[in-house]
Order: sequence, then structure tokens, then C-alpha cells
Amino acid sequence: MSNTTDPTKNYIPGLEGVIAVKTEISILDVEKGKIIIRGYDLIELAQKKHYTEVAHLLIKGHLPNQEEHEQFVNDLQNKGKVPSPVNELMRLLPRNTHVMDAQRTIVSFLAGFEDPEFLKDTSPEANIEKGTKILARLPYITANAYRELNGLPIIDSHPTYSFSDNFLYMILGKEPDEVSREVFDKTLTCYVEHEMPNSTFTARVIASTLSDIYGAITGAIASLKGPLHGGANEAVAYMLLEILEKGGASVAKDYVKEKLARKERIMGFGHRVYMRKYDPRAALLKDYIPQLIDRHPQGKELYEIYQIVEETMKEEKGLYPNVDYPVGLIYYLLGIPIPLFTPIFLVARTAGLVAHVTEQHANNRLFRPRVWYVGPEYRPLD
Ligand code: CMC
Repeated sequence: MSNTTDPTKNYIPGLEGVIAVKTEISILDVEKGKIIIRGYDLIELAQKKHYTEVAHLLIKGHLPNQEEHEQFVNDLQNKGKVPSPVNELMRLLPRNTHVMDAQRTIVSFLAGFEDPEFLKDTSPEANIEKGTKILARLPYITANAYRELNGLPIIDSHPTYSFSDNFLYMILGKEPDEVSREVFDKTLTCYVEHEMPNSTFTARVIASTLSDIYGAITGAIASLKGPLHGGANEAVAYMLLEILEKGGASVAKDYVKEKLARKERIMGFGHRVYMRKYDPRAALLKDYIPQLIDRHPQGKELYEIYQIVEETMKEEKGLYPNVDYPVGLIYYLLGIPIPLFTPIFLVARTAGLVAHVTEQHANNRLFRPRVWYVGPEYRPLD
């Protein structure tokens, strides 16, 4: 049994370093330490622009002027209302459903509300229209799926809040203060797009069959849920709290060393592309932590633990934090329930996913790799 391509030369576990797509959307320039989004530095965008401006850059291809931005924000508000059966579906979710699974189920469900011809339409215009609608609806779906699953009352979108303020408002169930809004918006921008992580690749692989954008994003949600991917931000919060419970800052170093000795991973560290360098998003977001520590009785100690874990990982493994490390603590200090951390990442990343599905459909070639077969040789049936 042979392959036309030599597996010993062409097999690359995890596709590390493989160039899978040609794209105008983004690149991780590891040498310069920059994440480039359509030519702009993501960190500069996060410092100077709102999430919705960067989402517009991704989905529509350019940074909006003031009028375009207002129009986009209005569009997101107008498209945000979900069909009423979505509320019924949320009530039917089994109580143990993870919010990522709720998102995955509901995005898939929403496909059925599209006109079948429009659903199939893979033109950029149709994808942008459907993708903007998915993005617009996800904050309501995410916050309220969590609320429904936890016996909290459903909360309607705020009529005048911006996209991210409204999202935080529905999560917290109260008006967020100025600092919370600013920090939350920056985390969304940091999550908005990141070249070719597993979830984006998943979305493009699905789109490459000319399946629709709802299916592509549904698949991406399943991918992002994994603890090696988006699931790391909630794992970070649980880890910091576990260290706190086991004795706090004084035991943090030993906690990390013992885990490493058992060959366990410390979540929020390492990255396939950066691996031995600091993720620039983590560097940006870390600076926001000190202004949040007073919001929690143990905020100061959690930040101390945070720093000790970071130093220990550098000393022991030469590994640096990725974006999920600061976000895990920031969201906790903002009072966001931990099961919502990864679902929030998904909402933010939807803008990038929409851009990728649109690009894939606009210039498509089916993904269909080969295998290195190591099973039994041909054997005839008796
Ligand atoms: N803790 C301990 N050791 C680690 C870690 C970690 N977080 N990350 C990598 N390593 C070690 C790993 O044990 C291996 O060491 P050795 O060569 O001695 O066996 C080496 O680094 C290479 O690891 P790998 O798993 O082959 O590398 P990868 O490129 O497949 O993994 C990763 C990348 C992100 C899955 C990994 O760094 C990891 O598991 N990190 C923790 C989970 C995490 O924080 N994920 C979020 C990623 S960033 C946000 C996102 O894109 O979702």
C-alpha cells in the first residue's frame, strides 16, 4: 500500500509550520513580536480603537470612518434580536450544558431561520451579512444561555450601549463601570483574530466544502472549547484559585514545580507559534491587572500568585504567558463567572472567523490531505 507522496518526508505532526492558506487577513510576525491584522499591529489597534472598529476592519476589509463605525454599531444592534424559539431552546438545554456547547447548538439552530437559498449563498456579500448577524446575536445568546442554565432571569440587550458594553451588561446583570468597560473591550480586541489557530483552521476546512458559514462557525466553537485552545482562560482562573486555596503566594512556586514534575501543563503558557516568546497580547493586558485587584478581597494575593507562576514558568521551562493567562485573572476580577470565559473568547473571535470563511469561499480549494498508514498490510477476508 503506497502513497503518491512520501510520508516520511511529508508527515508533519500537528501540521506545525505548514502553510495551509494564502490570506490577506492576519499574520503572527514572531520575529518582530507583532500580530498584524490587515497591515495593522493588533496591539496598536487594541490601544487606540474599539472592538467594533477592529471587527469592521476584519469583516468589511477596512477600518471604518466615524460614520461607517456608527452604521456598523447600529447594524449590530438591529441584528442582535434573536428569533423567539432561541429562548425556548435555551430553556430546553440540559442543566449541565457548557455555555460553549450552548453557543454551538444555538448557532447551528439559527441556520434554519435563513432562507435556504441565502443560507447556501457563499458570496462575500452574503457571508458578511450572515456573519454580522451571527456576531450581533452571540452576546445575547452567550449571556442568556448562562443565565438560563443557572436559573437567572433573561436580560434584554441595552438599547443604547455599544456592542461590548452591552455584552458585559448582560453578563453582569448590571451597568458596568467605566474601567470594566474599557478593559473588557480591550480583551475582546485582543481575542478578535490570530492567524491560523485550530478553530480558524476548522472553520476554513468546513467552509472549503462550500458548507455554509453557520456550519463553519459551529465547528469552530467545538474546536475553541478544547483546553489546549480557548479553554485555557478558564483553566487559568481555576488554577490561581486552587493555589490560593492551597496556601496562596507562599506555595505558588512549589505548586508549579510539582505540576511540571508530574509532566502536567500549566494553562495560559506556551504557544505553538510564540512558544519561547512573550505573547504581545499578554504583555498588553497584564498592565490592566493592578487597577482591578482592589475589586476582590483576595485580588492582591491572586496577582502575587499570578506573578510567581509567571516567573517560575520562565525559570523552569523558559515559557511565557499567552493571552489566556492575564485574561483568566482579569475576567475573574471583573466578576465574570468562570464558565463564561471561553464563550466570551468565541464571541470576540467571531469577527475573525467571519473574515476567514468569507475569504475561503471567495477563493476556495477543498482541504483534503493524505495519511501515513501504519495499519496492517492488505489481508484477504477468509
Ligand atoms: N506547561 C508545561 N509545559 C508546556 C506547556 C505548558 N503550558 N506548553 C508547552 N509545554 C512544553 C511541553 O511539555 C513540551 O515539553 P517537552 O518538549 O519537554 O515535552 C514542549 O513545551 C512543547 O510542547 P508541545 O505540546 O509539543 O507544543 P505545542 O505547540 O503542541 O503546544 C500549546 C502549544 C498551546 C498547546 C501548549 O503550549 C499548551 O498546552 N499550553 C497550555 C494551554 C494553553 O495555554 N493554551 C492556550 C493557547 S493560546 C490561546 C489560543 O490560541 O487558544
